[in-house]
Amino acid sequence: ASTLGAAAAEKGRYFGTAVAANRLGESDYVTTLNREFNSITAENEMKWDALEPSRNSFNFSTADRIANHARSQGMKLRGHTLVWHSQLPSWVGSLGSASEVRSAMNNHINQVMGRYKGQVHSWDVVNEAFEDGSSGARRNSVFQQRLGNGYIEEAFRTARAADPDAKLCYNDYNTDNWSHAKTQAVYNMVKDFKARGVPIDCVGFQAHFNSGNPVPSNYHTTLQNFADLGVDVQITELDIEGSGTSQAEQYRGVVQACLAVSRCTGITVWGVTDKYSWRSSGTPLLFDGNYNKKPAYDAVLAAL
Ligand code: XIL
Repeated sequence: ASTLGAAAAEKGRYFGTAVAANRLGESDYVTTLNREFNSITAENEMKWDALEPSRNSFNFSTADRIANHARSQGMKLRGHTLVWHSQLPSWVGSLGSASEVRSAMNNHINQVMGRYKGQVHSWDVVNEAFEDGSSGARRNSVFQQRLGNGYIEEAFRTARAADPDAKLCYNDYNTDNWSHAKTQAVYNMVKDFKARGVPIDCVGFQAHFNSGNPVPSNYHTTLQNFADLGVDVQITELDIEGSGTSQAEQYRGVVQACLAVSRCTGITVWGVTDKYSWRSSGTPLLFDGNYNKKPAYDAVLAAL
């Protein structure tokens, strides 16, 4: 196959990208998006601050533009993200009691998942709930502070009821290296959820790599060990700082690691072009600022 999406489809996977709604008017952007990718994640438009800027007042217009683009192009849609400490409107942190935070969280999940029911194949139900570093501790978010450890499983149970057909994912970064404490902490949570029947279907690996945090040589081990718990794994926000051959080789390694795990169901890169990467000083993506294919693109296509 001659495109990322078609090549991934031949392997029974999707190949997606993050999309920003305000770029959908740029013809080179849309041409590249529509040609190469068969799954979309909203880069910011389905986050809490975008959808529910004040309590129980929802604005779906920008997120709908992305969902409509995916539907009109026959692309899959990943949902990102329901419960996250960041890009969270300040009103959530100002709620007076645990029961108010609980009802706000569950209402948000119900309203957002209800809106996109039947369209989103996988939802990042909870994003980045663990600390970096060696502690393996939970991040001290509004949800953790007010609701304690139980908020994650509550979010998953609410999500299952809201859209029983969507795959429910836990998503995080710095969970790629099997020997890291954070990886082990997430693994132990998923293992516990599976043992106790908490509804979880997938684990998302953001996969934001750079020279200080390169693609680990044990990546396949990490993905396989999670899959062996009985969940799908997905590469959800892939980008790799660098250029040329070394960047291409790292991209190749990520694709090979995913393809070697039968439950690794898809890969999403975190943007179409270096021109609009969230890493504004870098060049971490597959197309350069002029939408030319980079060596990393060729390596990914060849590896698929
Ligand atoms: C980033 C977006 O790319 C930026 O446009 C925004 O300013 C900040 O968020 N982990 C995630 C993503 O789960 O939602 C983040 O996206 C990147 C890190």
